[in-house]
Amino acid sequence: LHVFLLLLVFGGGGSGARGDDVSALLEFKKGISDRRRDPVLGSWSRPDAPEAGAGGGACPARWRGVVCDGGAVVAVALDGLGLAGELKVGTLAGMRGLQNLSLAGNAFSGRLPPAIGYLSSLRHLDLSGNRFYGPIPGRLADLSGLVHLNLSYNNFTSGFPTDGIRELQNLRRIDLRRNSFWGNVSDLLAELRNAEHIDLSDNQFTGAVDLELASLTSIGNTARYMNLSHNRLAGGFFRNETVGAFKNLEVLDLSNTGIAGMVPRLDSWFSLSVFRVAGNGLFGMMPETLLHNSMRLLEVDLSRNGFSGISPFSQ
Ligand SMILES: *[C@@H]1O[C@H](CO)[C@@H](O)[C@H](O)[C@H]1NC(C)=O
Ligand SMILES: *[C@@H]1O[C@H](CO)[C@@H](O)[C@H](O)[C@H]1NC(C)=O
Ligand SMILES: *[C@@H]1O[C@H](CO)[C@@H](O)[C@H](O)[C@H]1NC(C)=O
Ligand SMILES: *[C@@H]1O[C@H](CO)[C@@H](O)[C@H](O)[C@H]1NC(C)=O
Ligand SMILES: *[C@@H]1O[C@H](CO)[C@@H](O)[C@H](O)[C@H]1NC(C)=O
Ligand SMILES: *[C@@H]1O[C@H](CO)[C@@H](O)[C@H](O)[C@H]1NC(C)=O
Repeated sequence: LHVFLLLLVFGGGGSGARGDDVSALLEFKKGISDRRRDPVLGSWSRPDAPEAGAGGGACPARWRGVVCDGGAVVAVALDGLGLAGELKVGTLAGMRGLQNLSLAGNAFSGRLPPAIGYLSSLRHLDLSGNRFYGPIPGRLADLSGLVHLNLSYNNFTSGFPTDGIRELQNLRRIDLRRNSFWGNVSDLLAELRNAEHIDLSDNQFTGAVDLELASLTSIGNTARYMNLSHNRLAGGFFRNETVGAFKNLEVLDLSNTGIAGMVPRLDSWFSLSVFRVAGNGLFGMMPETLLHNSMRLLEVDLSRNGFSGISPFSQ
């Protein structure tokens, strides 16, 4: 009998080969405090899940925020519902079909456990605007299908792992804004391969952006939005030879980062529309080509630097 019970326990457990989505979600729900007269997650209970077959393995399509496809839960979206609680994100580890997990704009706290790495179908992870804290596990690099990672506006105070991040070849948008992440920004930029939207602003990153051309992957081709403002960088602006690599850049914000030195010619940045470098130690003549070639420029902020020359943009 003991052996039988053990099998039952492990068979339905979170890290089993075949995840039981209903059980996982009910475990997950235990961490959520939703105590109002008409609870948001009132629909999340077994009797209300007639689709659940024997063993409760099927997808509870009527549960609020749950999206089903072919009997598996493919998305859990609980954005902006005023929910709170110390979440056990690891309870979802068995949900091998889960593509989207979006909990943005609640008051959740909790950690991101290494078990997040089991969510092998995950494409879209949005925990923004909560109170998540603690370290980001290196197992994040196991999420090879990840397209969108948004951890912005939380209480993360750890190093952001760079090892293995280059395996995330599908990662297009990474938003870490307004946390206390630290780490070497050069190492992270060298690891991000195909990212289009990179927001590391308002953190404690160190390092420099004057990387060698050789250390860049394909990020130069793909990056359109890059915001590194309000960090603790050092070193100079992008090197002359790497400027050419970032040819699709539309928005660059390096304000208040502590970089210093000359700005090279930006001739090749035809798509640039927003260029902010305020509050640094940049000097030399105004980069003239900003005026000539970049017809799409909408906003330039060079204030609080040591630039000389007349600029129609300076404030
Ligand atoms: C996942 O989220 C993205 C972005 O919000 C959306 O386009 C996509 O349809 C979602 N996928 C599922 C399976 O819900
Ligand atoms: C990340 O989340 C924040 C807050 O929810 C939102 O404002 C921001 O646009 C998101 N970032 C991306 C890249 O979608
Ligand atoms: C963030 O974490 C710090 C300590 O690590 C704590 O003092 C603070 O209250 C936390 N903030 C929120 C909003 O949870
Ligand atoms: C860059 O990030 C800062 C801080 O998060 C924000 O205030 C600023 O608007 C962003 N810049 C651009 C150009 O989006
Ligand atoms: C960041 O990494 C680069 C390349 O790995 C290294 O040269 C540099 O010294 C590092 N900077 C800091 C502040 O650790
Ligand atoms: C920067 O590179 C361009 C061509 O890529 C070259 O014409 C120019 O002389 C270089 N400027 C400096 C200061 O090295």
